[in-house]
Amino acid sequence: MENQVTIFDHPLIQHKLTHMRDVNTGSKLFRELVSEVSMLMCYEATRDLPLKEVEIETPMMKTKSKVIAGRKLAFVPILRAGLGMLDAMLEMVPAAKVGHIGLYRDEETHEPVEYYNKLPSDIEERDVFVLDPMLATGGSAIDAINIIKKSKPNSIKFLCIIASPEGIKALTEAHPDVQVFCAAKDDGMNENCYILPGLGDAGDRIFGTK
Ligand code: PRP
Ligand code: URA
Repeated sequence: MENQVTIFDHPLIQHKLTHMRDVNTGSKLFRELVSEVSMLMCYEATRDLPLKEVEIETPMMKTKSKVIAGRKLAFVPILRAGLGMLDAMLEMVPAAKVGHIGLYRDEETHEPVEYYNKLPSDIEERDVFVLDPMLATGGSAIDAINIIKKSKPNSIKFLCIIASPEGIKALTEAHPDVQVFCAAKDDGMNENCYILPGLGDAGDRIFGTK
C-alpha cells in the first residue's frame, strides 16, 4: 500500500490546508484554497508523464528540448465537491477532456448513490484523474472508479485533499491498481462518517450551501 499512496507534506500545501480547515474561512477563500492545493497536487501527480525530444530554435541557437509525449488525460470530478478541483487541473493541462460522475452519500446509510455519469467517448485512450476533495469511508471513490473502469481507460489516479485512514484502506484494497494522492491523512471519522479533524462538508463549504 505504501507505494500506492502519496501523502503530500509540502509546507505550502500544509499551510493552505490549515486555512481550509478553519471554520472561520468563508466560501470564497475556501474555493481559492481548494484550487491552489489542487494545482500543487496536479504538479506532483503528473510527475511521471512521459516526455519526448523536439527540435526548437531559441534566439541564440538550435537546440533539442522536451515536451509531453502526446499522453491523453481525462479529469473526472465526483460531483459536487470534485468540481472545486477541476479548474486548477485544467489550468495545468488545458488539453485534458472532462467527464463527470454524480454521487451523493445517503445520509442514513452513508452509501453512495449515483445520479449522473458522462465520460469522454475516447476514455479508453486516456489516463484518468478522478477528483474529490474528501475520501471518508471510500465508498464514493470506489464506486466512481468501478463506473470508470467499465470504460477501460489506460490508467486511473485518484486525487483527494483529505483522506481518512479507513478510506485509504478501503480504496487501495478495492482498487490496488489505482495510484492515490492526498494532501493529508487525518485521524479517523465520527459516527456520521465525517473525517476528523477534517474540514466539514466540502461541497457545502465550496458552494456555500449550509
Ligand atoms: C462527499 C465528498 C465525497 C464523499 C466522501 O460528497 O465530496 O464524494 O462525500 O465520502 P465517502 O468516502 O464516505 O463516500 P457528498 O456525498 O457530501 O456529496 P456532495 O459533494 O454533493 O456534497
Ligand atoms: N464528505 C465531506 O464533505 N466531508 C467529510 O468529512 C466526509 C465526507
